[in-house]
Amino acid sequence: MIASVALTPPAINPIAHIALVDALVEQGWYVGNNVIDLELCQALHRELHHMAEHDVLDEAGIGRGKEHHLRKDIRGDAIHWLDRESEAQRRYLDAMAELQQSLNQALFLGLFEYEAHFAHYPPGAFYQRHLDSFRGRANRVISTVGYLNPQWPTDAGGEMVIYHPDTPSQEVARVVPEAGTFACFLSETIPHEVLPTQQPRASIAGWFRRNASLDGVLDPAR
Ligand code: OGA
Ligand code: MN
Repeated sequence: MIASVALTPPAINPIAHIALVDALVEQGWYVGNNVIDLELCQALHRELHHMAEHDVLDEAGIGRGKEHHLRKDIRGDAIHWLDRESEAQRRYLDAMAELQQSLNQALFLGLFEYEAHFAHYPPGAFYQRHLDSFRGRANRVISTVGYLNPQWPTDAGGEMVIYHPDTPSQEVARVVPEAGTFACFLSETIPHEVLPTQQPRASIAGWFRRNASLDGVLDPAR
């Protein structure tokens, strides 16, 4: 008799690596449904929900270091940086490390680090149109967003809108923040925004980085 072994499915569907690399080259962005394992999304969602309920998330700001400040008129999410403190976080971060290898092998990007935070958008919150890489700092090269909401009503808003890099008034995709969906885009060139949400909205925003040294100062990781 053969003993049945409960295998853990891959955190990120490996087929998606190929489609993702192609889409980044062709258009600078990628969106895929059913890319992140749903059980993993559930576990991550539970963690974020728990942190939101217990009021232990940090208000998100804009800018780094001394220039960091709160701007609720620009973004209204609350965040927690992933730090491998749970099995679910480790699985997600390990999957991103594998994706980093695929990206480096296919595109010679020299990505060497990944940072990511949970983001909780309470009802009414949004994130105005922006680029993810800070001006004059080529630190964030590729952005990722993983969505965790078990289901998303069509009238709940909260979509991420992706705009054309050359004609920023042109909308090219509207991403429903539903569990399993994974988006990825070039941090320095793809404008995007989060539309006002009617429901609590859970995602993980992350960035593959190159180390950028400016005026001899090593850019910090957050
Ligand atoms: C960000 C961001 C998009 C999203 O955190 O920079 O653009 O859909 N997030 O959560
Ligand atoms: Mn962004």
